[in-house]
Amino acid sequence: MMRLPARVLVTGGAGFVGSHACLALAEDGVTPIVYDNLSRGHRQAVQWGPLVIGDLLDRNALDDAFDTHQPEAVLHFAALAYVGESVTHPERYWRTNVGGTATLLGAMRRARVHKLVFSSTCAIYGEPPRQPMDEDLPLAPVNPYGATKVAAEQAIRDAGAGWGLRSICLRYFNAAGADPEGRLVERHDPETHLLPLAIDAALGKRPPLTVFGDDWPTPDGTCVRDYIHVLDLAAAHVGALAHLEAGADSDAFNLGTGHGHSVREVLQAVEAALGRPVPHSVGPRRPGDPPTLTALSTRAHTTLGWKPRRTDLVQIVRDAARNR
Ligand code: UFG
Repeated sequence: MMRLPARVLVTGGAGFVGSHACLALAEDGVTPIVYDNLSRGHRQAVQWGPLVIGDLLDRNALDDAFDTHQPEAVLHFAALAYVGESVTHPERYWRTNVGGTATLLGAMRRARVHKLVFSSTCAIYGEPPRQPMDEDLPLAPVNPYGATKVAAEQAIRDAGAGWGLRSICLRYFNAAGADPEGRLVERHDPETHLLPLAIDAALGKRPPLTVFGDDWPTPDGTCVRDYIHVLDLAAAHVGALAHLEAGADSDAFNLGTGHGHSVREVLQAVEAALGRPVPHSVGPRRPGDPPTLTALSTRAHTTLGWKPRRTDLVQIVRDAARNR
């Protein structure tokens, strides 16, 4: 039986991955205390514990949340996460993703909370020289979003050396799917992610999809990504918490299935799941897209005992399409 804390502060718990992590925590008897400013998250996604509406940069509000709710550990999701926006508004990304993480670390130190699981990304590796990607690749982000996540990870490691914080950085590949029971959906505004856009196009709820390039150096010419079910990501957070609870040292893990799917394969999976084709055309490449990103998650498997269970792409699409 894994040992888990009774109460966990979840920054960004009203967002897509954060809300699914709250669901997973609650299923294991942990109370998630969501701390979210609702700038990108949704109040309806907070269903398994209290919601504290507050900003990550508001140190007083954070201190109050720690004093009132006495969490024993933190899951830190709150961040800005659009690659394109990070290029046009880099200062927002440095403020929220790096400044926000530093503010949180200060509040954790004051409250003597020494366990943290951090929401990181494969974007920290940039355009890596080998596939699938392990954790020992150089950190070489190619956009400000990735750069701010590298910096936040460094701030977290420095807190380990400085005052004994123990942390797990979870580097996600492409989060996809949704709660199969339909209690949560993926809802970004604006929506830029392939799967929700393709599903909505097939359902006639959005215009036809533009495929960003079909002349990439990949088997069918479209970009290849590693789509990992959001509930598998959620389970990894619970596993990481248990690992820290058992006294483990700080670490970082890539989370993906190890299997890549091209954009065209995703469109075929949407058609198979919904019984309707995805109206689409081929447009130019999107700047900054690496051709292929796939994960080697051996370390998460051997250290956390984590393995993705919901790897069937058609089933991932079915889950993502529920309640859209
Ligand atoms: N794509 C299209 N048309 C669209 C949207 C996307 O062809 O309308 C393609 C993209 O070019 C890409 C693939 O579908 O090849 C997936 O695109 P997403 O925008 O869904 O996801 P990304 O792989 O670009 O982004 C994800 C995370 C980011 C993270 C990034 C790392 O969402 O947070 O991986 O590169 F930074």
